[in-house]
Amino acid sequence: MYSFKNDYSEGAHPAILQKLMETNMLQEEGYGYDSFTERAVRLIREQMNKPDADVHLLMGGTQTNLTAISAFLKPWEAVIAAETGHIFVNEAGAIEATGHKVITVPGTEGKLTCDAIHPVVAQLTDEHTVEPKLIYISNPTEIGTIYSKQELKSLRDYCTEHGLYLYVDGARLASALSAKDNDVTISELASMVDAFYIGGTKSGAMFGEALVICHKDLKQGFRMNMKQKGAMLAKSRLLGIQFSELFSNHLMYDLAEHANAMAERLQKGIEEQGFSFLAHSTTNQVFPILPHAYIEKLQEQFLFYVWEKIDDTHSAVRLITSWATDVKQVDAFLETLKAIRKEINITDSSVLV
Ligand SMILES: Cc1ncc(COP(=O)(O)O)c(C=O)c1O
Repeated sequence: MYSFKNDYSEGAHPAILQKLMETNMLQEEGYGYDSFTERAVRLIREQMNKPDADVHLLMGGTQTNLTAISAFLKPWEAVIAAETGHIFVNEAGAIEATGHKVITVPGTEGKLTCDAIHPVVAQLTDEHTVEPKLIYISNPTEIGTIYSKQELKSLRDYCTEHGLYLYVDGARLASALSAKDNDVTISELASMVDAFYIGGTKSGAMFGEALVICHKDLKQGFRMNMKQKGAMLAKSRLLGIQFSELFSNHLMYDLAEHANAMAERLQKGIEEQGFSFLAHSTTNQVFPILPHAYIEKLQEQFLFYVWEKIDDTHSAVRLITSWATDVKQVDAFLETLKAIRKEINITDSSVLV
């Protein structure tokens, strides 16, 4: 069965494997002092046009979020996230386990807005409550939508006005930055947020995330927190090589463009068959709403997650594409959907939402 479950179902892009092989017998320093990590950090700083940013390479998304947020906050400080936010829903309480409350607010198409945040910030009246200090967003969001420059700027201005940090979980940042409707460059992003990470795991690397710390107050002691949280890899060369490759020759963006194109093809094809979506995504995750009878049939041939129940007869499913997605499989999915429609012979348009 072909899987549209994730963008990390394959190993790693061949260019990365090739580099790992070529460099295998070289002896290097560990813990981030190897020449590959130094090169990756230089390339990332150059692309962001931010020579003074601190860049740390970590292994996974949850680890990066918890290591970053626990380092940035004082013991009584809290995070605000959308109620769909990955740190709230899918990280087994990793942030709370470091002692910081995650306060959730409703999102708009998965995104946080200043209007949604404000009641929480305004509620802080005395020292008996936690103090919201960091705004967590992911770009793209959990439902594949992206923040525009204006939306990020509004959040930035709000954070500056209220003394909050703005942190972006970029597990799929390459996909967001490569989306057709994206209007933010990586250097503009770096100039608007206090910290963010660039996901490698879901962008063609074997594993790895690059955390960028822009705000000077958040830099001090970060490596100590990394070490304490088990996030400092002895064989840091493995991370350095992967990010060096991703940031060379436009590789990371080329891979994301392919993933996005495959998702667009899926979304368009499904739309043409009359189905609607949980949200309009321009990144590598799409969420068609399908009748349960269709979902069961599709599951006989494809793997994907059933994401959200819409009503008694319909659910939204999540289809993810990646650097490795085969266009033939995208077309096979669309053909299968068409065939199911014929087979079930549903003429009642009420099954199409
Ligand atoms: C937005 C986002 N953040 C963080 C993570 C966590 O990454 P990991 O599974 O590597 O811990 C994921 C994983 O799906 C994610 O989608």
